[in-house]
Amino acid sequence: MAQAAKASVPKENALGSAVQPLFAALITQTTASAVQLGLFQRLVKGPATARALARTAGAKERGVTMLLDALVATGQLERTDSLYRLPAAMQSVLEVPGVDPETYFADWLEHATALVASWSKLADVIRTGEPVNNIVEPSAAQQFFVSLVRMLFPGNYLTARALFEKTKGRFGRGEVDILDVACGAAPWSMAFAVGNRAARVTAVDFPPVLDVAMEFARIYGVEERFSFLPGDIGEVDLGKGEFDLALLGHICHSEGERRTRRLFRKTYRALKPGGTMAIADFVADDQRRGKDGGGFAILFALNMLVHTPEGATFTYPQYRAWAKEAGYRRSELVAVPAPSPMMLFYK
Ligand SMILES: C[S@@+](CC[C@H](N)C(=O)[O-])C[C@H]1O[C@@H](n2cnc3c(N)ncnc32)[C@H](O)[C@@H]1O
Repeated sequence: MAQAAKASVPKENALGSAVQPLFAALITQTTASAVQLGLFQRLVKGPATARALARTAGAKERGVTMLLDALVATGQLERTDSLYRLPAAMQSVLEVPGVDPETYFADWLEHATALVASWSKLADVIRTGEPVNNIVEPSAAQQFFVSLVRMLFPGNYLTARALFEKTKGRFGRGEVDILDVACGAAPWSMAFAVGNRAARVTAVDFPPVLDVAMEFARIYGVEERFSFLPGDIGEVDLGKGEFDLALLGHICHSEGERRTRRLFRKTYRALKPGGTMAIADFVADDQRRGKDGGGFAILFALNMLVHTPEGATFTYPQYRAWAKEAGYRRSELVAVPAPSPMMLFYK
């Protein structure tokens, strides 16, 4: 009794700080169930009531209503009176040309399910330092990325368009040579090729991924201005003094520090004097405390631990130091609709 009397009374409910995150899986399962019941897929066609959605799903209205309200409460849907709808940002992603709204959610669900399976071994990975499956090992990478890059295209294309608008003064008109490093489905260079009809793109990635980039370039009618450089970015020759703009979209985190620093030097060599290296990634806040929008990046570092031998997420000062070491003179952050701002480095 005397012991108990001494225990200090916390200001917050303990459930809030340590135990509650264990229930985050309930949010994941809420989203997954909505995909399995086809609710998002139905809402792509327009707003609907719980009753109509229950009918489409062949499910009971009571449960569907609770699920829809949970989706509203977690910011995944919006509701006006009795009508549920997709948030405008989600709707725009699904309207990007080349995206199939019918399969978009199901593909993400499959990806997320695989992630949960590998993350279930996180404690072992931390103990041993060995990733569960190494996605950057070329044969695994080719298989893994061929499907992932399709899902990444629409969100990154919208962000790339915002970057294009903000850098129009330099890259919006006239002949511009663009290097898209680890291009995936090429959302970054596509926005520039569509915005500037005189822009030429050299896209680098593994051969099967380049087939996906070619498919998207055809959809956007820009394939004649695309050329492809197949291979490992650590091995292929990116040339010397050839490009005005080098785009590195979500590649530094899987490469890790050692390979990113090497890539910065290669990219620097490939750029013309005055050229720009633009980086999109999940950037951690300087103190790695998850502030200023850097929280997702901190969590994503663990994803790299689970899936790569050297991957991680970095802070802007880290990127800046490596760019300086490679020879870049100056850098700038550009606000875009994405988890982190874009980082621009000037040769
Ligand atoms: C996360 S995806 C990003 C794709 C695209 N840049 C985007 O932002 O949507 C990473 C891309 O890097 C490619 N990649 C990873 N390691 C690579 C390597 N060593 N050499 C070439 N490409 C690589 C993958 O095939 C994949 O297309």
